[in-house]
Amino acid sequence: MRIVLLGAPGSGKGTQSKLLIEKYNIPQMSTGDLLRAAVAAGTELGKKAKAAMDAGKLVSDDIVLGMIQERLNKPDARAGFILDGFPRNIPQAQALDAMLARMGQPLQLALLVDVDSEVLMKRLTGRRTCSNAACGAIYNIYFSAPKTQGKCDKCGSSLSHRSDDNESTVRSRLQVYEQQTAPLVSYYKAQGKLRTVRGVGSVNEIFKNVTDIIEVQMRPLAAAMSAANAAAAAKGGGTTPAAKAAAKAAKAAKAAKAASAAKPAAKTPAKPAAKKAAKKAAPKKKAKPAKKAKPVVKKKAVKKAAPKKTKKAKKAAPKKKVAAKAKKKK
Ligand code: AP5
Repeated sequence: MRIVLLGAPGSGKGTQSKLLIEKYNIPQMSTGDLLRAAVAAGTELGKKAKAAMDAGKLVSDDIVLGMIQERLNKPDARAGFILDGFPRNIPQAQALDAMLARMGQPLQLALLVDVDSEVLMKRLTGRRTCSNAACGAIYNIYFSAPKTQGKCDKCGSSLSHRSDDNESTVRSRLQVYEQQTAPLVSYYKAQGKLRTVRGVGSVNEIFKNVTDIIEVQMRPLAAAMSAANAAAAAKGGGTTPAAKAAAKAAKAAKAAKAASAAKPAAKTPAKPAAKKAAKKAAPKKKAKPAKKAKPVVKKKAVKKAAPKKTKKAKKAAPKKKVAAKAKKKK
């Protein structure tokens, strides 16, 4: 599973990433976390990045791209990854596409966590993060405060307040997001990889919607693979129980694929694709009127019956008028 999480600062990318790691057992790659670690370690790279981070500006592309390439080369990335906070502009997105193409592992989904900007300031200024990097739990003094002030509920370590989570830096970060990062929405939409989830409500509710989108997006892939496996198994000996089970699995996979093609269309930008598919399917139904298109037959019957009714009606009409006239005369 190869996913990019898009969204404004404070939209909840980090919060959702932590839950995704647990559920899918794939690594989160956050350029913000990598940069903060470099700053804390006092490396050359960290020194270069610090000024931009403190000002709420983007760190230069060459630094970030080098860092992400190194991270993607690690063995754990082969199982998939969640990119959080990267890419941040069009050149980074293009560079990422090129890197992943070289690796033969193209991106599967760009998930936008959509939150109205008024909420973001409070989320960021109120954020507190566990200082134990292995834990990294995220709190908020307004929305999800820890049980003991300043201490992590999970591991008891002290909580820290990010230096760029102050009002003036946040304002600059939000501006940079609008100018440089928001255009990525159109970039991934054009690739057909963009899906959007509302980032407002309880964290668990949002996570449920996130996983629904992920499953729907990934299911067709899994279904296609199991169908191919089943077909291969069936070829090898059609009458064995295993082959029968494989054929059954192929049938189920086909149904799942059809269902998943229809489902996301209701909630996501894939809607037009589903409409096209429906249009394509329509003539097939017409070709078999006897079995499936009963309503069409009924319509024809109604049409045939209609003239008779109209004739009767026409014949009946004068009688009624005469009767009415007769009534008036009385
Ligand atoms: P980075 O660390 O990536 O920060 P960011 O994008 O600004 O995102 P945040 O981590 O602030 O927000 P988030 O969406 O993860 O929110 P979170 O889940 O924590 O980048 C920092 C800096 O590094 C940049 O400014 C830049 O200088 C540099 N940088 C990083 N990547 C770069 C790149 N690719 N290129 C160049 N420069 C780069 O949630 C926020 C708060 O909200 C928390 O308190 C949380 O508890 C709360 N919250 C979350 N969900 C909910 C909810 N549903 N309801 C209520 N509260 C919620």
